[in-house]
Amino acid sequence: MRPASIDDSHPVTNPLLITIDGPAGAGKTTVSRLLAELLEYRYLDTGALYRSVAYSVLINNIDFEDDADLTAHLKEFDLTPRADKNGFRLFWNDRDITDQIRTPEISMMASAVSAKPAVRNFLLDMQREMGKDKALVCEGRDMGTVIFPEADIKFFLDADPHVRACRRYKEMPPKTTVTLEDISRDMLQRDQNDSRRALSPLKPADDAIRIDCTHIDPQTVVRLMMACIVPMLKARNQ
Ligand code: DC
Repeated sequence: MRPASIDDSHPVTNPLLITIDGPAGAGKTTVSRLLAELLEYRYLDTGALYRSVAYSVLINNIDFEDDADLTAHLKEFDLTPRADKNGFRLFWNDRDITDQIRTPEISMMASAVSAKPAVRNFLLDMQREMGKDKALVCEGRDMGTVIFPEADIKFFLDADPHVRACRRYKEMPPKTTVTLEDISRDMLQRDQNDSRRALSPLKPADDAIRIDCTHIDPQTVVRLMMACIVPMLKARNQ
């Protein structure tokens, strides 16, 4: 259902491209989904693309530190995003792997392979193609800086590292053997990998609106975002 603040003149013919960047556990996924649903836009989780590469590298036992091996692997890598009701499901060699790429092991591997130029170049065109019709909320690390520098509106979400780790811990299945300490350690490592790499490091775009999500719930974050988005939609429709 549309929010009351978007009136009937909501310009569906002139939709926005909205980017949401930030570190793991800041709340990007929940917020991006809610926002996309509210605006009746599609939602793109670009971390899932890097996770898919990591998954195939792991399964095929590829030495991703060897540029030639990695490049050869990517040449054969068959990943197809298929639109479902408001997002995308990912098919690798025609197999739906969307739900299998959410393990801590794949998280760490995704962070490692995402530093490789061959991987980033491979996924660049795919992401731009998925955003070309706009009406999209996309989340990642370099959405606003590198993939869609011309995005209509950019957000950067952050939160206290302990709060981020606790959120991820709560998402773990009930019988998990993974501890909060494991998650905190991996998260710190990923923060460092993702923000210190040479290519497309995690950082806010200069024109990004920054939101600290430490003490606010996802609904409040979405309300703050809508307060920026609605005037823009209205101005476009005048
Ligand atoms: O958002 P996520 O936790 O699913 O992302 C997994 C890893 O993928 C993350 O640690 C870094 C990488 N990534 C990236 O480099 N660029 C993006 N746009 C999205 C994710």
